[in-house]
Amino acid sequence: MSKKNIITIDGPSGVGKSTVSRKVAAATGFTYLDTGAMYRAVGLYLKRYGVDLDSKEDIASAMNTLDLLLIPAVNDQSDVGVFINGEDVSNTIRTPEMAMIASHVSAVPLVREILTEIQRGYGGKGKIVAEGRDIGTVVFPDALHKFFLDATPEERARRRVEQLQKNGVVANLQQILKQTLERDKNDRNRAVAPLRQAEDALLIDTTEITLEAVVLRILGEIVPKDGQ
Ligand code: DC
Repeated sequence: MSKKNIITIDGPSGVGKSTVSRKVAAATGFTYLDTGAMYRAVGLYLKRYGVDLDSKEDIASAMNTLDLLLIPAVNDQSDVGVFINGEDVSNTIRTPEMAMIASHVSAVPLVREILTEIQRGYGGKGKIVAEGRDIGTVVFPDALHKFFLDATPEERARRRVEQLQKNGVVANLQQILKQTLERDKNDRNRAVAPLRQAEDALLIDTTEITLEAVVLRILGEIVPKDGQ
């Protein structure tokens, strides 16, 4: 299998994937693909229309009318632009509530099937940094550079609160820790494409190192492989 020039960064919520991915994308010139944003946008859309998540037909017809657009971030400080049917939902999807909804919606096989196809479309030409839960295992098993970030739930909750506060969202540490543990459970135990480390991914425990150090570690791994 010839490998694609794609960097995959998987791991549980709050581990720092977005920050790290954006910086790796900026350093390599690759395009950053935030697949979590796609699940959040679909979660918002299905919730708005009161779609029954147990009905394959209802989901299929709702997904048929969804026009999902991602605009790459302009620099390593900004988020991707997310639009559903022309409406800018980039900020609306960044709340703890939307994260929980995304975690539920992402267990629906049809939703995963559709989003996986869209993600593969973005990665067709390579040169992307894609972050999520199943990128190295399912979406791009043929990626050249795979990483799996991990950290304790307590540290991830602490980082999440910090990030939310930076975005002006009021957050309670105990509540975020509870949600972090619940999302971990959902994401690791679902039947389709659960969160797990690809066998050929490099594990980086970020609990006690800065995200800048993680970025340097990743860039250090990428350069020698590219020169092969
Ligand atoms: O990375 P995030 O917090 O924005 O992701 C929101 C939810 O979407 C997360 O709880 C699980 C789901 N997700 C997924 O199942 N697969 C992905 N590739 C990305 C996100």
